[in-house]
Amino acid sequence: MSAARIVVVGTGYVGLTTGACLASLGHRVTCVDVDEAKVSRLSAGRVDILEPGLAELVTGGITGGRLSFVVGARKAVQEADGVFLCVPTPMGAGGSADLRAVEAVTAEIGDVLPAGCALITKSTVPVGTSKRIHAMLGREDVPIVSNPEFLREGTAVSDFLNPDRIVVGSDTPGAARWVGDLYADLGAPVVVADAASAELVKYAANCFLALKLSYVNSIAELCERLGADIDLVTEGMGYDRRIGRAFLKPGPGWGGSCLPKDTSALVKVAESVNYDFRMLTSAIDENIAQRDRIVAKIAGACGGTLAGARIGVLGLAFKAGTNDLRDSPALAVSSVLGALGAEITAYDPAVDSAIDGMTVVDDPYQVAKDADVIVVLTEWAEFKHLDWTIMADAMEGDDVVDTRNLLDPRTVIDAGLSWQGVGRPRAAGRKRVTVS
Ligand code: UDX
Repeated sequence: MSAARIVVVGTGYVGLTTGACLASLGHRVTCVDVDEAKVSRLSAGRVDILEPGLAELVTGGITGGRLSFVVGARKAVQEADGVFLCVPTPMGAGGSADLRAVEAVTAEIGDVLPAGCALITKSTVPVGTSKRIHAMLGREDVPIVSNPEFLREGTAVSDFLNPDRIVVGSDTPGAARWVGDLYADLGAPVVVADAASAELVKYAANCFLALKLSYVNSIAELCERLGADIDLVTEGMGYDRRIGRAFLKPGPGWGGSCLPKDTSALVKVAESVNYDFRMLTSAIDENIAQRDRIVAKIAGACGGTLAGARIGVLGLAFKAGTNDLRDSPALAVSSVLGALGAEITAYDPAVDSAIDGMTVVDDPYQVAKDADVIVVLTEWAEFKHLDWTIMADAMEGDDVVDTRNLLDPRTVIDAGLSWQGVGRPRAAGRKRVTVS
């Protein structure tokens, strides 16, 4: 397709990635935000989000004249062929998605959208939102299209440019196809659907991932009780193409800005049509149980009580490659440990802010100082390359709890420490071996 004139409203990680990537595909993109300071930083090519490749694309788009940043959606949309809504849809009261930002932008631009301009929802919105926007707008000449994103934090640019699929849904099929064509150069399969189906795809996909992870965490628990090894079990499962190898790693529970809010929102959507989505509710409950099991495991390593225990935490972000602490299981586990009386010293390569209830340090070796136990909570690769002999020397105790099964247990036991992961046999270090 020839270059389209696109407006992206909202410059968070979804909006900015969408804008910069669409510009890299040759479209003329104007990104809009209400935050003036952010707009001037972005106009100067300064990107605050930790997202590989994004700053380069933003700079390239600006210098190539295809990407600009402005305040004020009303003016920006007047020449647009398509407007992407990329504003936040956080978890609102009672677990449903909060659509106030989507509705506010719709109200702001509704009467100035040019006839035929597609209004496209990119943020995750509950099924029925396209209809709601259509009713709010009261315009038959502006088609509403749902085009959910499937971007993972930390790999958003590469996910955008190498998509598994593009999903576009509208009750005006021509508009859905037009949005699909914006991505034509990417060569991905395009699923053209009605609006409700496209809206549901995003929830169905994210909730399936959450189910998969809760299932794996449950199997890991069974492994511990039965003396099996989750690494081998998931390797054996993953070769089955119907299952696939991805999303089979156990951990301290799933988190981040999407899975927790989307699972709650889909339970609410189901409730609204009188369906009790028990499988999904169980997956959410299982995620809380997983966090509690991890806390109990750490308490066990501290000799049964957390009160007064000194715990060194490696990793606070919800996953490696991001500085995002939203709904981070690492942070949740650390907070519970702190609330139960443990003294927490934490290090995360991407987090330097002060956090209540713990001491955040800027050197991983500092967490080991006088620690009774070290806990790995985020799977940053750099933790694998720590010198575990230095860690062991600084520690008071000799236990490492690796909730991501990240470390090579041999490295840890060679340093004289004991290692325990999730769903894997424990490995006792030399210090612990008792000679009878
Ligand atoms: C997710 C979806 O993957 C993405 O498609 C959607 O658009 C936004 O939500 P993201 O939140 O960036 O992306 O994180 P993701 O990489 O999916 O991880 C989600 C959670 O699952 C994290 O807490 C992660 O640590 C955990 N996880 C993931 C595991 O515990 N084990 C795994 O094998 C994979």
